[in-house]
Amino acid sequence: MRMKHLFRKGADADASVLLLLHGTGGNEEDLLPLAEMVDPSASVLSVRGNVLENGMPRFFHRLSEGVFDEEDLVFRTWELKEFLEEAAQEYGFSPRRLIAVGYSNGANIAASLLLHYGKILQGAVLHHPMVPRRGIELPDLSGLPVFIGAGRNDPICVPAETEELEKLFQKAGAEVEVHWGSTGHQLTRSEIGVAAAWYKNTY
Ligand code: MLT
Repeated sequence: MRMKHLFRKGADADASVLLLLHGTGGNEEDLLPLAEMVDPSASVLSVRGNVLENGMPRFFHRLSEGVFDEEDLVFRTWELKEFLEEAAQEYGFSPRRLIAVGYSNGANIAASLLLHYGKILQGAVLHHPMVPRRGIELPDLSGLPVFIGAGRNDPICVPAETEELEKLFQKAGAEVEVHWGSTGHQLTRSEIGVAAAWYKNTY
């Protein structure tokens, strides 16, 4: 298979499959504790980004901080979608049961999956995402649950960008909930707690 990953079958075979997508410099082990907090009975498919930036795994190339290589973003989004279809076959789950849980660069590729391919996921928990792409025709995301965790003092995913992403998803019909912390770019336990509560209410 074309992406390094790990799969753990959950105790409840009918439960969701959490698609874990790490931040820049992370790997497929990073967000496992988070999956435990969000839904301990879910299966987990955790993927490592295929791109390296100075030895740090990412999900797509960028030209500089916050400036994405669009061509690569489009290609890597497609590559991840293909991988998800293969993984669903290999591990015997319905791709419709996938719920993305991503942080930073991983949240950006999850947002890109939704903006390019519509409802190929059951929903998404996006911790500190940016707007991955602008100026494309919006897909139909009607009724799709999306949680966004943001920091009022995040210098990378600045509040205006969070609001822009929220509006994009709303325009596409998604049910978006944004949680604002007073923090910066880091992912805090309290934000994970709020995301876990949202998840329990939603699924
Ligand atoms: C990105 O490159 O995806 C964003 O700048 C967030 C990050 O640093 O990973």
